[in-house]
Amino acid sequence: MSRATAAPIRLDGVRKEYDGGAVAVADLSLDIEAGDLVALVGPSGCGKSTVLRMVNRLLDLSAGTIYVDGDDVMGSDPVELRRRIGYCIQHIGLFPHQTIAANVATVPRLLGWSRSRVDERVEELLDLVGLDIAVHGKRYPHQLSGGQRQRVGVARALAADPVVLLMDEPFSAVDPIARGKLQEEFLRLQADVRKTIVFVTHDVDEAIRLGDKIAVLSEEAKLEQYGTPAEILRSPQTTFVSEFVGADRGVKSLSVAKVPRVGLRAAPPGEHPHVTIHATLREALSQLLDGDTGHVTILDGRDNLGVMNTEDIYTALRASSPSTGESD
Ligand SMILES: Nc1ncnc2c1ncn2[C@@H]1O[C@H](COP(=O)(O)OP(=O)(O)OP(=O)(O)O)[C@@H](O)[C@H]1O
Ligand SMILES: [Mg+2]
Repeated sequence: MSRATAAPIRLDGVRKEYDGGAVAVADLSLDIEAGDLVALVGPSGCGKSTVLRMVNRLLDLSAGTIYVDGDDVMGSDPVELRRRIGYCIQHIGLFPHQTIAANVATVPRLLGWSRSRVDERVEELLDLVGLDIAVHGKRYPHQLSGGQRQRVGVARALAADPVVLLMDEPFSAVDPIARGKLQEEFLRLQADVRKTIVFVTHDVDEAIRLGDKIAVLSEEAKLEQYGTPAEILRSPQTTFVSEFVGADRGVKSLSVAKVPRVGLRAAPPGEHPHVTIHATLREALSQLLDGDTGHVTILDGRDNLGVMNTEDIYTALRASSPSTGESD
């Protein structure tokens, strides 16, 4: 198929006033590149869900324009638009009286796909999110765990191969451990399918882990900062952002900064624990602390690039800061 698998989204001066005059979104502009996962974070009631629902036109805009793949959503046929946009609703929203397989098949069926093509797609998607069609396909939503239901929600949203995926707190209903696993699987999935994803969460750690970029919103969807996780952590631009990302942002930064490729010191004799060149500083530090030599080796394939000690990790962390000449 020649059709793009991911599309850019552009919000330009977007405003939403609900009936009765409540302003949920005052004036929001945001550019989202095709294939990026953007996490919208912000406190409860700041307008995150409202923004998502305007993108797929479940809500009309009061002012401004939203473009999906260059098309003004208000000028698009809503049905056609929603076919191109997968949507995971806050609180899951599976159809309770339909089996898991039927839930996932919803949109392909609406699109009139043949029975065999729908069946194939459902199996493929359940497999993709780590569920076995033979075990789970015939069950009903209440017969799955919360985490499994959320995976079905993701599979259903992906079913018709949308160019955009909107996810409203898709992992909020599960415990932290299951959540970590879901996030890991989701990252793997995104590496495969590479959709443009707008992902709402109020969990900063989740945003850091999953987002290519993070948009931090305050009341009325005011854009406090928009940048990569590293940028947000290293140089929060407003008090709101620094308070929102939390006091332990130094530690969080370790999880987003990669080990350096150059400037490593020569390995002293002995067996050191190692990480690959793709590791984060946090992984390097954790390996270092697991060993007893005070060093961690950085490997690129079979090449030994050198070692780091704790001081080097600290220096690398500071060097990873996108801000320049900062004195903190
Ligand atoms: N149908 C509605 N009519 C009037 N006001 C609404 C409506 N839906 C939402 N609001 C208000 O708009 C604001 C934004 O709501 P929204 O659901 O977008 O917030 P949110 O950031 O998604 O919050 P949460 O994190 O709790 O899900 C809130 O103040 C809410 O009360
Ligand atoms: Mg919401």
